[in-house]
Amino acid sequence: MKNYIIADKYKELLDVVQDKIAYAAHDLDHVLRVFQLSMFLAEGEKDLDLDVLIPAVLLHDIARKLEDEDPSGKTDHALVGAAMAGEILEDLGYDERLIAKVKNCIVTHRFRSGSPPSSREAKILYDADKLDVIGAVGIARSYMLAGRHGERMYLDVPLAEYLAENVGENGRIKDTSKHAANLEFELKLKHIPDKLFTAKAKALAQQRVEFMQNFFAVLKQEIDGKR
Ligand SMILES: [Fe+2]
Ligand SMILES: [Fe+2]
Repeated sequence: MKNYIIADKYKELLDVVQDKIAYAAHDLDHVLRVFQLSMFLAEGEKDLDLDVLIPAVLLHDIARKLEDEDPSGKTDHALVGAAMAGEILEDLGYDERLIAKVKNCIVTHRFRSGSPPSSREAKILYDADKLDVIGAVGIARSYMLAGRHGERMYLDVPLAEYLAENVGENGRIKDTSKHAANLEFELKLKHIPDKLFTAKAKALAQQRVEFMQNFFAVLKQEIDGKR
C-alpha cells in the first residue's frame, strides 16, 4: 500500500480535527490510518467524489471524545459528529450540497448504527474505519483500550455464558474487568469481513482477521505454558 498525502487545501480542516480529537484508539493516528485505507480503497474507482470522502474521513470521529466522556452512554458520536462536521465545514466556507453529503457519510460510519452507508463515499469510509479495528493495528488498539478500562489480557469463558452475563441489550459491556480482547474478537471483530461493502476491503479484512486468529491462539498457548 503506498503512502497518500493529504492535500494542502485540507490543512485548516486538519487543524480543527487535531484540536477536537479523542485519545488512545480514536486519536489522530486513527484518523490518518483511515485516510490511508480510504485512499487505497478509492484508488482506481471511477466517479468517486474525493471532495466528499476526504472531509468525511477527517471529521468522522470528531465527536468521539464527547461520546467517551458521557457517562449516560446516550451520546452517539456518529450523529453528534455529523452535526459538528456540518458547522465546521460551514465555518470554513464549504458548499452546502457537499456538506450534506459529508454529513451523510459520518452518520452512517458506525458499526452498530441502524443506518447503513448508502453512497459510495460512505461505504468507503465505513470499510476503511472497520479495517482499522482488525489486524495488528486492531490488536494494538484493543490493548490500548484494555489498559484504560481495566480489562483482562485473555479470558477463557464460553461465549454464550459471557454474552448472557456481561453484554447488555445495546451491545455495551457491563463490567469491563470481565472483558478481554479475545472475547471482543470472537463476538465482533472476526465477523467484520462479512459486514464490509467493497471487495477490496473484504479481501484485506480476511487477511487481517486470520492474523488475529493466529495471534490469540498463540497468546492462549503461551498463557497455558504450551509454548
Ligand atoms: Fe467512529
Ligand atoms: Fe473511526
